Amino acid sequence: MSSTTPTVDAHGERVQGMFDRIAHGYDRANRLMSMGIDVRWRNEAVRGLLPETMPANPDGSRRAAVLDLCAGTMDSSVEIHRQYPQADIVAGDFAEEMLAKGAHKLTGAVGERITPQPMDAHDLPFDDDSLDAIFCAFGVRNVSDLPRATAEQARTLRPGGRLTILEFFRPTSGLSRLLHTAYNRTVLPVVGWAATGDLDAYTYLPKSIGKFEAVQDYEALLGEHGFVNVSHTKLTMGMAWIVRAEVPR
Ligand SMILES: C[S@@+](CC[C@H](N)C(=O)[O-])C[C@H]1O[C@@H](n2cnc3c(N)ncnc32)[C@H](O)[C@@H]1O
Repeated sequence: MSSTTPTVDAHGERVQGMFDRIAHGYDRANRLMSMGIDVRWRNEAVRGLLPETMPANPDGSRRAAVLDLCAGTMDSSVEIHRQYPQADIVAGDFAEEMLAKGAHKLTGAVGERITPQPMDAHDLPFDDDSLDAIFCAFGVRNVSDLPRATAEQARTLRPGGRLTILEFFRPTSGLSRLLHTAYNRTVLPVVGWAATGDLDAYTYLPKSIGKFEAVQDYEALLGEHGFVNVSHTKLTMGMAWIVRAEVPR
C-alpha cells in the first residue's frame, strides 16, 4: 500500500515511499540493530514528557493532549501510554504503512488512548496552542524543511507545552564519530537489509545522520522559534541525544 498523505516536496515523497517499503521489517530491524538499546532510550526520553500535575479544565475532566510525531510503528506512543495512561495520544506519520504495521499494538486500554492519524510534520492538523506535549523519536532528521516543521511545533503547543526530541544528531566528538562510522558501515546496512530486503533505505539512514545538524545547531534553531528552557542529554557516548524544550508561559 502506498500512502496518500500529501508531502511538501520530492524529498518527502522519497522518504515516505521508503518507510512504506520497509514498514514490514522495521520493528525487527530496530531491535536487532540496537540490541534493545532503543527501548531504554525511548523509556528515558518519555520520562518528563508531561509535568507532574497537568492543568485541568474547570470541570477537572481534561486529559493531556500529546502528539507522537513521526510515530512510525508506534513504539513510542505505547511507551507514552505506559508512563502517562491518562493522556490522549495522537500517533502522526505520513507513511501510512508504518502506522498500519503498528496497529496490532493498539489493543485494550492502549487502543482507547492512542489514535493513529496520517499527517505531514510540515502541516500539523491541530489548532494553535492545542497540544500539551510533542514527542518525536528519530523523525526530525528526515523532514524536508526543519525550520517549517519546528514552527509548526511551536504553533500547536500551548504556552508551557513541552517538546521532547530523541534523535541521532551529527556526531562532533572523535569517539562518537568513530562509533557512528563503524556501526553505520557494518551493522546498520547488513542487519537492515536482512530484516527488510531493502539496502537503499539502510544506506540512506546513515547518510542522513552525517548530513544532519549537530545538537547545538538544533538547539539554536529551537531558540529562534521561541522555545525556552532548551536542554539536552547525551545517550550511550553520544550515539543518540534527548533534546527538551518548552513554549514560554
Ligand atoms: C526512523 S522512523 C522513526 C519511527 C518511530 N518514531 C520510532 O522511533 O521507531 C522515522 C519516521 O518518520 C516519518 N516521517 C519522516 N518525515 C516525515 C514527515 N515530514 N511527516 C510525517 N512523518 C514523517 C517516517 O515515515 C518514519 O515513520
